Amino acid sequence: MSEQREIVVTGGGTGIGLAIAARFAAAGERVTVTGRRKDVLEAAAERIGARAVSFDASDPAAVQAALADLPSRVDVLVNNAGGNTDRVREAPAAGDLKGLADAWQANFEANVLSAVLVTAALKPRFADNVRVVTLGSIAAKQGSGSYGAAKAAIEAWNTDLARQLGAGGTANVVAPGVVLDTEFFHGTVTEEWLDARISLAFNRRAGRPEEIADTVRFLAAPEAAHLTGQVVHVNGGAYGAR
Ligand SMILES: NC(=O)c1ccc[n+]([C@@H]2O[C@H](COP(=O)([O-])OP(=O)(O)OC[C@H]3O[C@@H](n4cnc5c(N)ncnc54)[C@H](OP(=O)(O)O)[C@@H]3O)[C@@H](O)[C@H]2O)c1
Repeated sequence: MSEQREIVVTGGGTGIGLAIAARFAAAGERVTVTGRRKDVLEAAAERIGARAVSFDASDPAAVQAALADLPSRVDVLVNNAGGNTDRVREAPAAGDLKGLADAWQANFEANVLSAVLVTAALKPRFADNVRVVTLGSIAAKQGSGSYGAAKAAIEAWNTDLARQLGAGGTANVVAPGVVLDTEFFHGTVTEEWLDARISLAFNRRAGRPEEIADTVRFLAAPEAAHLTGQVVHVNGGAYGAR
């Protein structure tokens, strides 16, 4: 039997990240999940048979300190940690430039720095043929303020990463449309909003975390060796990549 691969999934304690981690663990891979809330993370890791390493992926010192607990070889890195920080913040009042700057900074840190820092920290441990998959969003194409802008930045960063890896591995972005059954929306979804979003999809429904997980697993497979530097959209047709 071939050696088990070492998989790291950031934000793997809930939602899409948990579904990704569960798929890899069920396939017999060695999985490490990360996240800030130790209790949530450890309970999730125990349920799916993964290791838990708790740290803030957007904090350089915390990422550095976590290295001691992360695997010494990484075959697959899934940069999934993130979310739209505007959904848990009070919107800045018109003219409050400091508040506006803070809101943009928060989405940049949560979605861009988290991936950039963890990838840079683990890069010396990347195995030959490493697979890096980073969660983008349909928002990179359709807007959504600083969140969409942060996810668009991830796409540009991924191009450089794929180029740097060259023949030594692949780097791709998976960009979901609306996915329910995660903590992403923090209870802010209204029926009206959801109906409007779902009406954009050809299949008239939201995505499921497991469907994103299956796409990530395909990109992490040996068969996907020639697929790099791409953005793979998973949205039921709500955005047509061209
Ligand atoms: N759901 C959607 O409709 C949708 C659509 C497009 C893209 N996405 C993207 O998919 C990814 C997963 O989101 P989700 O829907 O599964 O939401 P979620 O359930 O809120 O998952 C996000 C995970 O990331 C962790 N996280 C957030 N910031 C972190 C940080 N600074 N350091 C470490 N961990 C952090 C969270 O755990 P802690 O809070 O404990 O740290 C949480 O487990 C995100 O990148 C999101 O932007 C989601």
